[in-house]
Amino acid sequence: MNAAVQTKRHSDPERLLANALRALVIFVGLPASGKSTFFQTHFAGTHRHVSKDLMPNVQNRDQRQRELIAQALTQRQPVVVDNVNASVAERAHLVALGRAHGVRIIGYHFDSGVRECLERNASRGGRQRVPDVAIYVAAKRLEVPTYAEGFDNLYRVRLVGQSDYEITALPP
Ligand SMILES: Nc1ncnc2c1ncn2[C@@H]1O[C@H](COP(=O)(O)OP(=O)(O)OP(=O)(O)O)[C@@H](O)[C@H]1O
Ligand SMILES: [Mg+2]
Repeated sequence: MNAAVQTKRHSDPERLLANALRALVIFVGLPASGKSTFFQTHFAGTHRHVSKDLMPNVQNRDQRQRELIAQALTQRQPVVVDNVNASVAERAHLVALGRAHGVRIIGYHFDSGVRECLERNASRGGRQRVPDVAIYVAAKRLEVPTYAEGFDNLYRVRLVGQSDYEITALPP
């Protein structure tokens, strides 16, 4: 591709927006790593929120989650899947679903260590707080996401200070 064409492609805001909105966004991170807060601050205005935390009374939550994702993508609505999504195997189902709908697959890895998450979890109140063991178990299972899984874009998110984020685009 020559330089002129490349510049044109990247400077076309409508096309960039269209790309961002034809997407399945997969969050990966320990409990209390800041995923749901990040959804509210960065995606709530544009993306549907799918999370197994939002379906406490559903029996087969994986199946229900697949249905909700498929429904949104069929309606051309971009989706964020906000769970721990710890393993490559779990994510493979989501990536395949996104691919079947022909959308971009975008991953956000909330890169917080166990100690940080335990501290943030301790400061959460009520039903938001999880047993500490859930953080240890998730840390054991967590496989850092890579492009080999089929992501089109991958970002690392680090929480900074009281409410800020450092977002790094990972090189393919
Ligand atoms: N950028 C930030 N800086 C500092 N604290 C934050 C930040 N974002 C979120 N928090 C705090 O961290 C705690 C955990 O955040 P949040 O509930 O978003 O995590 P989560 O990854 O969705 O957890 P879970 O997997 O259990 O749902 C909350 O108390 C929240 O207020
Ligand atoms: Mg959450």
